[in-house]
Amino acid sequence: MRRYLPSQKWRDLGIMAVFLLLMWIPAAEFEAFEWLHSFTRAHETWELDEVILLVLLLPLPLAWYAVRRAREATRLSQRALESERDLSHVRKIDSLGTLAGGLAHELNNQLQPLVGLSELLEAETPQEDPRRRKVELIYAGSLKARESVDRVLRFARREAAGFVVHDTSEAMRSMVELMRLSCPTTVQMTVSLADDLPPLGMAWADVESIAMNLFSNAVAAMDGSPGQLDIRLHPPSGPNPNGHAAVLTVSDTGPGISEAQQQRIFDPYFTTKPLGAGTGLGLWQVQTLLHAAGGRIEVQSELGRGTEMQVWLPAAGAGQSAQHVAEVR
Ligand SMILES: Nc1ncnc2c1ncn2[C@@H]1O[C@H](COP(=O)(O)OP(=O)(O)O)[C@@H](O)[C@H]1O
Ligand SMILES: [Mg+2]
Repeated sequence: MRRYLPSQKWRDLGIMAVFLLLMWIPAAEFEAFEWLHSFTRAHETWELDEVILLVLLLPLPLAWYAVRRAREATRLSQRALESERDLSHVRKIDSLGTLAGGLAHELNNQLQPLVGLSELLEAETPQEDPRRRKVELIYAGSLKARESVDRVLRFARREAAGFVVHDTSEAMRSMVELMRLSCPTTVQMTVSLADDLPPLGMAWADVESIAMNLFSNAVAAMDGSPGQLDIRLHPPSGPNPNGHAAVLTVSDTGPGISEAQQQRIFDPYFTTKPLGAGTGLGLWQVQTLLHAAGGRIEVQSELGRGTEMQVWLPAAGAGQSAQHVAEVR
C-alpha cells in the first residue's frame, strides 16, 4: 500500500489554497460580493463585511474534511507498516527454523560415532568392570542427545516423521505421572484417561510436547495460588467429521484469558510473562505441530474463572497402526 506522506498532505492543502485564491479573483473581478451584498440587502439587513466573512467561512468545513482524510490516511499507512514489520518477523522465525534444522542435521551426523562406539564399548566392557557404569551413562546420554536432535529435525521439517504409534492410554498414563511430579502442591490435579484409545497419527514426542506446554501454561496461570487442574484424554464425544482419535482437555482455575488476548496467544513471541519467564513460543509450537499432523486446538476461557484448552488429536492412518512400539519412558 502507498503511504500518505506529510509532504503530500502539505501539497494537497496548497492546492486547496490556490483553488480558493483562483475562486476569489473572478468573484472580486465580477463584483460578486457587491452583487451578493445588494441581493441580501434587498432581503435582509446584512453588511458587506458580514457577507465577506460568510464567504470566507465556507471553506472551513472543506479544510476540516481534508485534514480528517489526511489523518485517516496516515493511520492506514501506519497500520500497513506494522503488518509489514509483523511479516518480516515471521520470515525471520521461518529462517530460524531452517537454521535450527541444518544445525540439528549436522549434530545428528556428529553424534553417530558417539552412539555407535559407546554402544560397542558397553558391549565389550564386562559387568564387573568398575568403568562399566560410566560407559553405560555415556551411551544413555548419547541416545538422549540423539533423541533431542531428532525432535528438532522433525519440528524443522514440519512433519511428524517416523510415526511412532504407542499404546496411547498407557503412554499418556506415564506422562501424567511425570506431570504429577512437577505439579505444585497448591494445585489439585485430577486426571481422567479413557482405556483402549486408538493409535494416534502423530509422533509421541510431539503429543508429549503439546501436553507439556498446556500443562505448564496452566500451572503458570495459577501462579502459586490454590487451584484445580484437570487433564482428560477421551475419544471425541460429539460429531467427529475429521475422524480424530482422541480429545485432550487441560483446564485450570487460573485468571483466564481476555477475548482480545485469545486472538493473539497462538502468535509467535506473544507472552504476558516477564522477560526470562516466557518465550511466547509454546502455543505457537502446539498449533504448528497440530496443523502439520491434521489436529486442532480450541480455547475456552472466562476472565476470573479459568481456561480450558481442547486438543483434537489425529488418528493414525491405515498401515501405521500395525507399527506398535511399547517403549514408554
Ligand atoms: N492456561 C492459561 N491461562 C491463562 N493464560 C494463558 C494460559 N495458557 C496460555 N496463556 C497465555 O498465553 C500466552 C502465550 O502462551 P505460550 O505461547 O505458551 O507462551 P509463554 O508460556 O512462553 O508465555 C501466555 O503468556 C499467557 O498469557
Ligand atoms: Mg507456555
